[in-house]
Parts: sequence; structure tokens; C-alpha cells
Amino acid sequence: KWLGKPVFIRRRTEAEIEEGRSVEMSQLVDSVARNANIDSGAQATDENRTLDEAGEWLVMMGVCTHLGCVPIGNAGEFTAGGVGGWFCPCHGSHYDTAGRIRKGPAPQNLPVPAAEFVEETTILLG
Ligand code: FES
Repeated sequence: KWLGKPVFIRRRTEAEIEEGRSVEMSQLVDSVARNANIDSGAQATDENRTLDEAGEWLVMMGVCTHLGCVPIGNAGEFTAGGVGGWFCPCHGSHYDTAGRIRKGPAPQNLPVPAAEFVEETTILLG
């Protein structure tokens, strides 16, 4: 939890990274990265969503951008073979392996908070 809200920290598999990187911008509902660590107008490419260049570390607020429920992990229609991806069952919002909204009423990608690795096993938020 951070600021009273759940935070999702995921070390993505190769399949999740490949899946996220194979998505064309034209397939996205929300084309903005929503990543507090980069330019506010940056595009929602997979590379612009993760904490590291290799794309292994995805850190996001675990709050659905529709009405604020907590989405379920490894679920929904945009996983990598059942791994990764998030689904909010409240009203059926599907997020892909990069936490980008792909289907359902949620209007925006799950936001990436200001975050950085301060040690190999420690991420500082805010
Ligand atoms: S709160 Fe997530 S779909 Fe409505």
C-alpha cells in the first residue's frame, strides 16, 4: 500500500514483455503512458510503462480508473497465456500485461507512480 492505496509490483515474464511490446498504439484505448516518471505526454508504449529498460518491472497503482475497485491479477482477456494482465470484475475492465486499459468502461491506463530502485531489492515510491 502507498498513500492508502494498493500498489501492484510485478516482475514480468518474457511472455508478458513480448505480449506488451507487440501491441500497436492504434489498439490502445488510452494512448498516454500515465507514468509519473516520464514526460506527461509520453505515449503508452510498453517501454514507457516499466521501471527498467528490459521491461521486467511494472509498478502501478492497483486502482481501476473506472470507479476505483482493485483489479484482479493474471486475469482478463489480455494476459500472456493466462499470465499477467488484470481484470476488474466490477464492470468488466480488462488491462493488458503493461496495465493498459484494453476493454471495458475504465477510461485510462493504471497509473504508474513516481518510483525508483534505490537498491537491488528496494523500490522507493513518491
Ligand atoms: S471499477 Fe473497475 S470496471 Fe468499474
